[in-house]
Order: sequence, then structure tokens, then C-alpha cells
Amino acid sequence: PTPATPVVLIAETLAPSAMQALGSDFDIRHVDGADRAALLPALADADAVLIRSATTIDAEALAAAPRLKVIARAGIGLDNVDVPAATARGVLVVNAPQSNIITAAEHAIALLLSVARQIPAAHATMVAGEWKRSKFMGVEIADKTVGVVGLGRIGQLFAARIAAFGTHVIAYDPYLQPARAAALGVTLVDLPTLLREADIISIHLPKTPETLGLIGAAELATVKPNVIIINAARGGLVDEQALADALTEGRVAAAGIDVYVKEPAAPDNPLRSAPNIVLTPHLGASTEEAQDKAGTAVARSVKLALRGDFVPDA
Ligand code: MLT
Repeated sequence: PTPATPVVLIAETLAPSAMQALGSDFDIRHVDGADRAALLPALADADAVLIRSATTIDAEALAAAPRLKVIARAGIGLDNVDVPAATARGVLVVNAPQSNIITAAEHAIALLLSVARQIPAAHATMVAGEWKRSKFMGVEIADKTVGVVGLGRIGQLFAARIAAFGTHVIAYDPYLQPARAAALGVTLVDLPTLLREADIISIHLPKTPETLGLIGAAELATVKPNVIIINAARGGLVDEQALADALTEGRVAAAGIDVYVKEPAAPDNPLRSAPNIVLTPHLGASTEEAQDKAGTAVARSVKLALRGDFVPDA
């Protein structure tokens, strides 16, 4: 008997190029991965599931997926996948760790410049028919000390880009060799030093039990009052309520935030009503280029995995 056509469950919107790369050998099905009541039954027949960051594949989802062979994350962060539970079940987890690093670094820069020159607020006055030239005073980026928290793939790209503005870049990264940082023109410091010295802080860490809440009320009590904080990494690395309070009390000058503890962010998320903040809805990876790369990389991995072939790093 011919084996049944493998079922590939697409749980989030993927680039058209990814759908093309999957080809026609599979029974492609779609579900809204954020809708658990729809996801769990849809997993029953799935040989592979393709996700971004809105779908959680935990022990419950794995238990609902007896045929599952591969979980493909069209992006980087695996904080929404229980990798040990998948591995224990023999389910392969693949991601695309190079796909959106440039796009993510560019988004952090975009947020920083938007915050520094109050571009969204100024834009809002223009479309309202106003001309408020004296209302908006910005800060120059040149000559500032920029503290990069997490000097991995994205942090390094951010550091190189922000260095081109004529800044002094320091970084906290317990895993990076000082020689590698020096080659990038970056001085490694400990986190308390970074918090004390930086005029601009940008976070580029994965979400793990160690990094969650890394910058909370106690840490925010030590920053310069002129500091701008950017987080396009993961929600909760900077405590949301503590940051909202610090902005309200003027202990942090401004912030640019792309990621939230709970996504979609709740209507009453404290950051929504904080002053001097620019918010985007987890757009750090949302360029056509990055989605093309992420989608085609994981599509290739899924094809190899379902054929039983070796899956090289994407
Ligand atoms: C990632 O980890 O790659 C990003 O959060 C982007 C995404 O959710 O696709």
C-alpha cells in the first residue's frame, strides 16, 4: 500500500516562497495556531507543523500530535516550543537562525531613531492638520554611549550599525569572548556597569528562565535619567510594569518596544499608556526579505525531515 501523503500543518502565515518551496508532495493544511481550540484537533493528523511566534507547541500540543515528526519555526526564537519534550518524543525541531537577524537589528535601529526624534508623535500632529515645530525636541545619537545587552548574532549587527552613528558601544554578554567583542570595537562590561553608563540600552537576548525579568525595578533604579531603552527581542526581558512606572516618573526618558510578555498585548498593557514610548506589534522579523529566508529555509528542512533525510543547519 502507498503510504498516506504526509500532512503539513501551516499554523501561521508564511511567505509565498515558503509555500512554493514546500511543493506539491504534501497534504498542506492551514490553522490559526493562536487558536488552541482549533490547533489541538488540527495537530491530530499532522506530520509536520510550521509556526512563527504566535503558536505554542508545548507538552499538551505534542500529546495532541501522535504522528508529528517535525516542528519548524520560521524564525529564530524557540521559547514557544517545548524543545526537551519534543526531543524526548523523537520530534525534530528546526528553526532558521540566520533568517531575520538583519531585519531584527534594523527594527531596533528604526525604533531608536523614532524614539529619539519623536517621529510617531510628530506624524500624528501632522495628519491632524497641526504644525507643532516647537513641541518636538530630539536627541542626537552621535557621541552617546550605547549599551547592547546580549552580543549574539542580532546584537552584533545592531552594534555595528549603531557604531556607524559615531557612538561608543559597550555590551553585556557573559558568553562572548572579550577578544571577539574587541574585534567588533565593543567593550564588554558587566550588567550593572552597562545600566549605569549607557545613554541608550538595546536588548538582544533570547527569552529563557535566566533572562526573563533581567531588567526589573531594581535595575531601572540605576540607569541614567536620560536613557532610551529599546527592546525588540522578547517581552518581559525588561519588566513591563517597572518600565511603565519609570517612564511615568521620568526615571527613564523614553523607550521603543516591539515585544510583550503576552502577545497579542492586552488592551490594558501598562506600556500602552506610558509616556515617551514608541510601540510596534512584534514586527522585528516582518520584512519580505526575512520572511522569505525564514520560510524557504524551514520548508527545505521540513521536506528533508519528512523524507527521512539528514537536516543540516538552516
Ligand atoms: C523570531 O524569533 O524569529 C521572531 O520573533 C520573529 C517571528 O516571530 O517570526
